[in-house]
Amino acid sequence: MGRVLGSLLLVAAAGAFTAGAAPGPAATEPAPLGRIVPAPASVTPGGTPYRITRSTAIRVDGSGAAHRVAEYLADLLRPSTGYRLPVTTHGAAGIRLVLSHGPFGAEGYRLDSGRDGVTITAAEPAGLFHGVQTLRQLLPAAVEKDTVQPGPWLVAGGTVTDRPRYAYRGAMLDVSRHFFTVAQVERYIDQLALYKINELHLHLSDDQGWRLAVDSWPRLAGYGGSTQVGGGKGGYYTKAEYREIVRYAASRYLEVVPEIDMPGHTNAALASYAGLNCDGTAPPLYTGTEVGFSSLCVDKEVTYDFVDDVIRELAALTPGRYLHIGGDEAHSTSHADYVAFMDRVQPIVAKYGKTVIGWHQLTGAHPAQGALAQYWGLDDTGADEKAQVVNAARNGTGLILSPADRVYLDMKYTEDTPLGQDWAGLVEVRRSYDWDPGTYLAGAPASAVRGVEAPLWTETIVTDADIDSMAIPRLPGVAELGWSPAATHSWDAYKVRLAAQAPRWDALGIPYYRSPQVPWPAA
Ligand code: ACM
Repeated sequence: MGRVLGSLLLVAAAGAFTAGAAPGPAATEPAPLGRIVPAPASVTPGGTPYRITRSTAIRVDGSGAAHRVAEYLADLLRPSTGYRLPVTTHGAAGIRLVLSHGPFGAEGYRLDSGRDGVTITAAEPAGLFHGVQTLRQLLPAAVEKDTVQPGPWLVAGGTVTDRPRYAYRGAMLDVSRHFFTVAQVERYIDQLALYKINELHLHLSDDQGWRLAVDSWPRLAGYGGSTQVGGGKGGYYTKAEYREIVRYAASRYLEVVPEIDMPGHTNAALASYAGLNCDGTAPPLYTGTEVGFSSLCVDKEVTYDFVDDVIRELAALTPGRYLHIGGDEAHSTSHADYVAFMDRVQPIVAKYGKTVIGWHQLTGAHPAQGALAQYWGLDDTGADEKAQVVNAARNGTGLILSPADRVYLDMKYTEDTPLGQDWAGLVEVRRSYDWDPGTYLAGAPASAVRGVEAPLWTETIVTDADIDSMAIPRLPGVAELGWSPAATHSWDAYKVRLAAQAPRWDALGIPYYRSPQVPWPAA
């Protein structure tokens, strides 16, 4: 009965809209509650939409951090609405952010929308922030523009109750193969935040460039950071710049996970200090794209002085819990040396108060207590290699899943994709979304899977538009795998929600790949 009446009302409303024939882009129906990415855990539509108007205020009951989330929301909404949207701590307000004890967890929230307002309730400021991203996506895409738009600014009525499936939802940017400025990294952070990603892994060193100033070894950045793939001028972050990235990421509720890749992928360091080489001779800087040719000298004590200094300085700059030590493709290090190196280096990370993350080759050594291994194999990686990772997981090593033929954002979508690589295969949008992190590595305990991460390697990636067109639209799918309950997983439903993001990317000036797999609105 209620449903029939509801449909009749909807038909009547649509008819009135058509008959009224008001020209212009303004939609008088709000987007359906729940048409967002990542899919919320629970959506109960119903009731009257809320309309943001000139007289709307944003009230926040809570700490300084909650207040900053309210200011962030106001900053998002002011340019396109043209409204004042004062942030208040008392009195009536159309939008309310409330910190409250409740079953929300560290990042969950509830959003209640109706005639009188929208209230986002969470136990922690992070939950308020994620709820704000939901509110943002429920508003028309024009809300993303930086000039005043006509509205109306309607939010569908009902309740969204939401919390993440996994605590670790990451994206990696390789700033070594090509250097990216602080502004470029911050632009990417804003895209990650829109999809509730909470870990930013920065690949800070590789054969082609060392990208962070280290006071005790100044030639690492000054010389080792002076070029990049193709021979351009490269660059590095001063400590102040790195702190600024950390600060900006934290303001979007992302934790920075810095990576110093060792013992391979170290040509930039070896070129900067002859003494780090077993033969005492520094190789030239490297601007090509081969892998596996460099190694720190495992037998030299100076290697561990170097690692200690770098990790000490990096840990002091990094408030996050993790320090990624790489460990992939150490093809120029013997297995015995690799194991010996990791046995020496992991305790250094612990000494400076951080938890080790390594690429999954670390499971071939002795992963430290509490370490996480990042799996970057393929669907058809050999059984022995997978068994080694699964065994480590059974013994307590946590897993971050980054299967390269699913979530490497630098893989080409099709043979015709102008950028990217194809060594792991072609990865269309459906392929990147349509797998389950919970069952991907058969035999790994479900509790070992801490989440997912989408790496973007940058051998072929130079500009903001390059980043955007490879990340979007695959990144939102990986974000959804990390956030949404397995029960919501459906390509047919997802592709419709994904298509609805396109006008938002257009409004934000984000170029994206118009995959033929997705029912995009007409451009
Ligand atoms: C990797 O792609 N070498 C981790």
